[in-house]
Amino acid sequence: MNILNRFYLLLHPRPAYVIGTGKYGGKVNFMAASWVTPVAEEPPRVAVAIDIESYSYELLKEYGEYTVNILSLDMLKELYFFGSTSGREVDKVKELGLKIAKGSKVDAPVLEDAIGVLECKVVGEFESEDTTLFIGDVLTVRAREEFFDVRRGWNFKKVNIPLHNWGKGFYAIGRFVMPK
Ligand SMILES: Cc1cc2nc3c(=O)[nH]c(=O)nc-3n(C[C@H](O)[C@H](O)[C@H](O)COP(=O)(O)O)c2cc1C
Repeated sequence: MNILNRFYLLLHPRPAYVIGTGKYGGKVNFMAASWVTPVAEEPPRVAVAIDIESYSYELLKEYGEYTVNILSLDMLKELYFFGSTSGREVDKVKELGLKIAKGSKVDAPVLEDAIGVLECKVVGEFESEDTTLFIGDVLTVRAREEFFDVRRGWNFKKVNIPLHNWGKGFYAIGRFVMPK
């Protein structure tokens, strides 16, 4: 296989999150995503690359809002399920027996078990052939205090976050290191 076709593997593993779309109380969906990146601090913005054939893409186009839900490694099974089934065929939340809520600044849904959540409103889109990069203003965020410090970020002595390599292959965050 041509390595150029798999260029993105050089950029993996990457943290994997769950993107919530739709409107709480109506159509809602969640999918796994590792092509997620902060793009600006002021204003706070985050981008997600979404497959145009996914149900999430359809809901993003319809409602223009999304949430980025950070799950701990304990929920790897759920994360993988969100990334290997489509909301067009399965009610993923019901199937997993998870609780959801409305975002506080958006109507898009939030996973109650998430250790952190970003609530976003789409402000720009960049279309590629098979994906669209949705850029969103981050309207509000929250993180579980026992795991997160605003100066140092996640405390990986207390919690771990899955890194997606490819397919069913994941890593966990390892040791803390600093440049000499
Ligand atoms: C760990 C993981 C990360 C993924 N990252 C992305 C991603 O960044 N963008 C994307 O479009 N699909 C990604 N996928 C695939 C989607 O989650 C998958 O196609 C999903 O079934 C789409 O669901 P939906 O049709 O309910 O929206 C990922 C899958 C996994 C397992």
